[in-house]
Amino acid sequence: MSANSFPTNNLAVVTCGLPYANGNLHIGHMRTYVTGDTLSRSLRKIGQKTAFVCGSDMHGTPVAVNAWKEGKHPKEFALSWHEKYKQPFLGMAIEFDNYGHTDDEVNTMLTREIVKTLDDSNHIYDKEILVAWDPLENQPLPDRYVEGACPHCGANARGDECDDGCQRHLEPGEILNPKSIITGNDAEYRNKSHKFFRISDFQDYLQGFINRLEGTANAKNQPREWIEGSLRDWCITRDIDWGIPYPGAEETDLVLYVWVDAVVEYISSTKQYSDRVGSATFDWESAWKKNGEIIHVIGRDIIQHHAVFWPAMLYGSGYTEPRAIMATGFVNLNKKAFSTSRNRAIWVDDYFSEKLDPDLLRYYLVTVGSLQDDIDFSWSNFADKVNGELVGNTGNFLYRSLLFAHREYGGTPQKLVSETVNKRIQEAITEFSDSINKYSLRSSALAGTKLAQYGNAYIQQNEPWKLKKSNPDFAAQVIRDCLQICKAVCILLSPTMPNTTQKIWEEMGESNSIHQVTLIEALESPPISFNSPSEPFMPIDDKKLKDLNSKLDQRINHNSTMGNENSPSETSNLNRISFELFQKLDLRIGKILETKEISGSEKLLLLTVDIGSETRQIVAGIRKFYTMDDLIGKHVVVATNLEKATIFGTESDGMVLAAGDSADLLTTHGDSSPGERIR
Ligand code: MF3
Ligand code: ZN
Repeated sequence: MSANSFPTNNLAVVTCGLPYANGNLHIGHMRTYVTGDTLSRSLRKIGQKTAFVCGSDMHGTPVAVNAWKEGKHPKEFALSWHEKYKQPFLGMAIEFDNYGHTDDEVNTMLTREIVKTLDDSNHIYDKEILVAWDPLENQPLPDRYVEGACPHCGANARGDECDDGCQRHLEPGEILNPKSIITGNDAEYRNKSHKFFRISDFQDYLQGFINRLEGTANAKNQPREWIEGSLRDWCITRDIDWGIPYPGAEETDLVLYVWVDAVVEYISSTKQYSDRVGSATFDWESAWKKNGEIIHVIGRDIIQHHAVFWPAMLYGSGYTEPRAIMATGFVNLNKKAFSTSRNRAIWVDDYFSEKLDPDLLRYYLVTVGSLQDDIDFSWSNFADKVNGELVGNTGNFLYRSLLFAHREYGGTPQKLVSETVNKRIQEAITEFSDSINKYSLRSSALAGTKLAQYGNAYIQQNEPWKLKKSNPDFAAQVIRDCLQICKAVCILLSPTMPNTTQKIWEEMGESNSIHQVTLIEALESPPISFNSPSEPFMPIDDKKLKDLNSKLDQRINHNSTMGNENSPSETSNLNRISFELFQKLDLRIGKILETKEISGSEKLLLLTVDIGSETRQIVAGIRKFYTMDDLIGKHVVVATNLEKATIFGTESDGMVLAAGDSADLLTTHGDSSPGERIR
């Protein structure tokens, strides 16, 4: 092992890519978080002092656009998702030492400080660029506010990335035929001055960095193409009013691009942890300004941000560079990527609602393939792994050994563990630490699984149940050895399956937390007495598997028929609903009494509508197509029992029905009066 192998005398910081606080989490996200959690627990197991930090990514258009769709302010919207994320992390036993968010004071201050340092040392300059603009609304359209064609591959793309095609990151001004996602208007490009971070200043540094960088091969190799070619400078500001203002905002109305303050949260979150536990326990400055072992666990789509932009920011402002980047592959369904918008994913909530043990999914995600490869999720593969490796091998060995020991000896027979078994456990310990040093969590977890396999063969060959009478001394020795293996297996698997191993640990009569002991403890005797054990893992039977598969199929097929909502020819494929369901919709005739503009919007009007029993305030996107006078007295069709919505800060209590792009209002031809129900 080299001089700087883990454990080192420095502080380690394990981070996970920040989830955008904008929607539900699926098991593709969890692949990253489970990996980060397992890594930080594993590092502690081998004696490395470690902090595990993360936070919610609050800013940028990924949040602003989704908030707008729900008629909420981005801050309120992001904070509510931030709060909601506690549950899935807790449920998956992902234990961050600190989980912050990018919109708090610490991160705002640190981000502005770092940017100011870069600016003061002339790494930032102003440049006029083309930005997309909605000419009718007179509004800038940064990043996800526009969609258009990818200039590289032609696929339909968002303003900031070609998410459906070549996956490239797109700079402002690059997307072709941009259209506003809010109004559908064709966007035009206008000149505007923005701030650029001169990455090219760091070319030499980055070349050295990428040679030192440890972690997965994809993270070490993919950035070479960029670093060794001509490095493009990076636009770090946006025209949007949600984010951290550029330092010196007095002279500009720009906010920082979300990716600038998101990465800084790695530092801010560590600082918050330090502030909480005290710098004697964990000193964030020693980690981030001196010699910390910084390890980033991320999805493979954000390697460029972490291996190029981020190290340049850190180096330029005097912070510690990352030691390693571990970039996980995607999780696919039937060979196709998860799609959040199409509901083609296994959501964490789905998993929980099936009452499946989170440790099963953790083990699956960590061991199913090598970290950087994409994996195809199927319930059948999942069940095979659970039933084979966990129930059949590991669980079986632990349960049969502990049960036999409890029944025959009331616990651990009073003997020394045999030389052979002691040596085999030592091998497993070495395999575990070597794997961590190679950033292979799959191998470190499998060190535990393989040891259980050895244990199964050992107990099977020696048949202690037969020796009990003829050679009680040897039977006791075999069981003594098996119990030592049990203890070691638990410790080795504890980073991957924290809950189950803690439970077995307690059943073996241990009284502390398995997460506080280091690997060496695997060689110390298990407690002399313990109670009857329980089975560690439950199999997934055929019935359950069928049920899981059919629910998933239904959902995916259902969604594929909903793809093309606007095309008239698609009506034959519609997903039909029952008459009963239709009847739940309360549609009534309304009469428009008054109209008002909504300040700041060129699209919306606030209508006062008489619906018979009462009048309603309803927001409608019809301003462009009608004069206000035309509307007064018009009969319209109103959906009256919809949830209230807030649109552009104005409450809308109902919905006026209209057809097509030019909002052709639905009306009546006879004399039905306001309040008349439509059936
Ligand atoms: N929120 C980003 C995403 O989901 C990731 C941010 S990671 C960080 O792609 F490095 F910026 F923290
Ligand atoms: Zn593309």
